[in-house]
Amino acid sequence: ETPVCQVDPGGMWAVSRHDDVLRVLKDPQRFSSQGFRNVTNPPWLGGNPFADSMLVMDPPHHGRLRVLVQKAFGAAAMARLEPRVRELCREAVADLPRGRPVDMMQPFALRIPAAVISELLGLDPQHSPRLKHWADLLTGGVSTVRPEEEERKQRARDAVAEVRAWFGDVLDARAREPAGTDLLGELRQARVEGEALTKDELIAFMVLLLVGGIETVVHLLGSSLVVLREHPEVWAQLRADRSRIPAFLEEVLRYEPPLQAAPRLTTEDVEVGGVKLPKGASVLVLLGSATRDEAHFPDGDRFNLSRPGPQNLPFGHGIHFCLGAQLARMEGRLALEALLDAFSHLESGPEPMTWHRTLLVRGPATLPLV
Ligand code: HEM
Repeated sequence: ETPVCQVDPGGMWAVSRHDDVLRVLKDPQRFSSQGFRNVTNPPWLGGNPFADSMLVMDPPHHGRLRVLVQKAFGAAAMARLEPRVRELCREAVADLPRGRPVDMMQPFALRIPAAVISELLGLDPQHSPRLKHWADLLTGGVSTVRPEEEERKQRARDAVAEVRAWFGDVLDARAREPAGTDLLGELRQARVEGEALTKDELIAFMVLLLVGGIETVVHLLGSSLVVLREHPEVWAQLRADRSRIPAFLEEVLRYEPPLQAAPRLTTEDVEVGGVKLPKGASVLVLLGSATRDEAHFPDGDRFNLSRPGPQNLPFGHGIHFCLGAQLARMEGRLALEALLDAFSHLESGPEPMTWHRTLLVRGPATLPLV
């Protein structure tokens, strides 16, 4: 009824319909991605490498950086990576405890993307649990801190310092070796208008891939399990026919998009969905609403394995379209294959599940299954 509305007087504008969301994402000139900076880099933080990343940049600078990493996430690179990701998925499933309730978030939904991103960035997998902690703090954690919460502010500042120090050490160690052909090696050799990337730019890339690669896939896997737990018939259908796994994942992405919203900032007075927004307005495009818009998705609140797909909107649209979409789909497919091979059924554990509560991402926080 009010598809473009201001949440509080003087506050953010929410854009909720599918076509209006697309219109905003297609127009980086008028809707700048600097909006991300406002959400993830409040003045009290004193700098957040995530807020200096490509995701927060506009043309033309964004395009110059994007070409550097595009190849590392293309089809050929994914085909090379697939056997290793399959192995990581099988190891995670083999280590799951049997015969007693287990919270699937840590040992399955988080372990897999953390291991994959560690592999891609050449990080020591021992540190995987810290990766999620940092990724949480530098995005959703920061965006939900209230002015009086000094302790949470300090935790976020500590996380920034730790990330800078640790990623800085990784880069220093790599600088002593010849640059290889892996992602970091290619980034170190890359030149933008003749100049190598600075250490801060490399760290911003690493943090973006860390956050992008973990915060979202963890919820794709978690929400997949929630759906499968609630729909045993879908679990049976997938067990009978593995070729339906990609369609299943597309419908999970539509039904529970891991990234629920993307911030933007207007660069001039502009109209969306018949509503005038002033220059400098903070805008949140609600992907989680757009993918249930009845005008595009009849009966959108119902999970429907046979719904025609794929739905690309959960991965954004336009110049910032998710760099890791193919990787995320591959991780989802291989993780589910490993799970379907190992278990005949999934059931809820004795404890209720809980949801992760932040502004931008959605998925389970705990998910006990038997
Ligand atoms: C951008 C969603 C997985 C890396 C985006 C955007 C969305 C998104 C919606 C665009 C944001 C905007 O327009 O402001 C998702 C979802 C994922 C996922 C739903 C999993 C289910 C990944 C993975 C990686 C990744 C696995 C890498 C390891 C990135 C990067 C960008 C991005 C680098 C910025 C691209 C740019 O600015 O040009 N993602 N993502 N994402 N994503 Fe993902």
